[in-house]
Amino acid sequence: MWRKASAVALLALAVGYFYCGSPDVETVLQYISLPSLQMSLQNPSQSSLEQVISTAWEGLISLPTRQWAKVAVGVNACVDVVVSGVGLLQALAVDPGTGLDHEVLLSKEDLKEAFIHYMGRGAAAERFFSDQEVFQRIARAAAEYPGAKLYVGGNAALISQKLATYPNLTVLLCGPVGPKLHELLDEQIVVPPESLQEMDEYHLIMEYKAGEQWGSTQAPQANRFIFSHDVSNGGMSSLEMFVASLEEFQPDLVVLSGLHMMEGQGKELWEERLKEAVSVISDIRKDIPVHLELASMIDRDFMNSIMQEVMPIVSSIGLNEQELLFLSQAGEGPHAELAAWKGIPEVAQVTDILLWILEEHGRSDPSSEADLTRIHFHTLAYHILATVDGYWGNQEAAVMAGARVASSQACGLQAVDVSKVELKAPLQFYSSHHEPQEQLTFDPAAPVTVWHRGNVTFRFTPVLVCRQPLRTVGLGDAISAVGLVYSEFNNNNQTF
Ligand SMILES: *[C@@H]1O[C@H](CO)[C@@H](O)[C@H](O)[C@H]1NC(C)=O
Ligand SMILES: *[C@@H]1O[C@H](CO)[C@@H](O)[C@H](O)[C@H]1NC(C)=O
Repeated sequence: MWRKASAVALLALAVGYFYCGSPDVETVLQYISLPSLQMSLQNPSQSSLEQVISTAWEGLISLPTRQWAKVAVGVNACVDVVVSGVGLLQALAVDPGTGLDHEVLLSKEDLKEAFIHYMGRGAAAERFFSDQEVFQRIARAAAEYPGAKLYVGGNAALISQKLATYPNLTVLLCGPVGPKLHELLDEQIVVPPESLQEMDEYHLIMEYKAGEQWGSTQAPQANRFIFSHDVSNGGMSSLEMFVASLEEFQPDLVVLSGLHMMEGQGKELWEERLKEAVSVISDIRKDIPVHLELASMIDRDFMNSIMQEVMPIVSSIGLNEQELLFLSQAGEGPHAELAAWKGIPEVAQVTDILLWILEEHGRSDPSSEADLTRIHFHTLAYHILATVDGYWGNQEAAVMAGARVASSQACGLQAVDVSKVELKAPLQFYSSHHEPQEQLTFDPAAPVTVWHRGNVTFRFTPVLVCRQPLRTVGLGDAISAVGLVYSEFNNNNQTF
């Protein structure tokens, strides 16, 4: 039963790629019904397990002694406009017709034809709309369409929103911030004047329901067609400005996301831009840790370049199970032969890949030049925080705090409601897929399982998975943000 649920979640995360860089489980889960899941009978011993874990979390999660005062976040930000696809086309005075795919949309007609093409198949797609003026007109119509929902989008903006819930933190957000996004952002977030632009980067998400009809087209299943004219995020145009602003802002932590947005520009452009990005990131003062939030990518060469060139110059990364496996496939790491995870990713296999990343591209060997010392891994059923020994403090609280926010936020709540969640993580697992391996047991009353391999420590805690998730836009961003808030960086480890 949970296999089906997690398969749906994996599918949803794959679809999440099409957002302005933030995984989104929300609507897919709403549309694909999970009767078996919802009808599952409450097993009393199970429900008490969830209670035990949640209570233990509350008792154990505490902020570190040394907290961040200033966090700088960049660089992808946008407004996600979610609207009825058919409704929007009708508002644009477009008549139904036949479908035809277009790689790039040049006009309203192209939009209509591509939308019909994908709606008829019930398939997700994302397209670039090349005419800026026409796009702006459509975006305005969409934003004003009755029932349209506007959300903060883009990993950097979503991470900032989460950090801003901690009153003692000053948060700087650099990215393309237009008037609408500025209005949607938490007041506590500082946006430097250079980041403000006249127009928002809108990502239009045209939804349709299963069975919905327009003209002779009928959608076999619910899905969404997404398009934008997002040049700023695609080129990471705010990166240089972001790094330049750090000098004045003096952050004690830098969070970077949006690298994946470059991929859509094509290899020639991203190769060039990535080089520039690496050189800019290298300019950040060495004593300030940089966390990189990864997101879905589809090009192996691109992923490999990020692994080779960017990972060694950041201190910490956050990623999910798809990104982890893709990293291993791109770099021919452990378990690269797996085509995809089947159900809940095996803890032992995840551990193998995490260790490989820290040994190949991180500072597991103190004589290495690489800066990478921390990986926050999240998947639907559990999280693992892997750190090279000696660099990070309070990591047990950090992994629990990340899982706690996943457990509450997916249900749309501020705190975990144990009647609405269920434990799906394994309670027994191995520290490695191959010998030598240690058998590990999870204790709900002390809900972090810790193990070591080489110079790396792994900390596991389960997620209490929301049975009826509401809005999970930016869940990965929230997990990483909260994990960082509870983390302490050991700056003195410079002797190596
Ligand atoms: C915020 O700072 C104040 C003053 O230093 C301190 O008393 C308070 O505990 C802090 N709050 C949190 C959540 O750390
Ligand atoms: C672990 O650290 C020691 C030094 O503290 C080093 O000699 C060794 O090579 C490291 N192990 C790995 C696997 O990097």
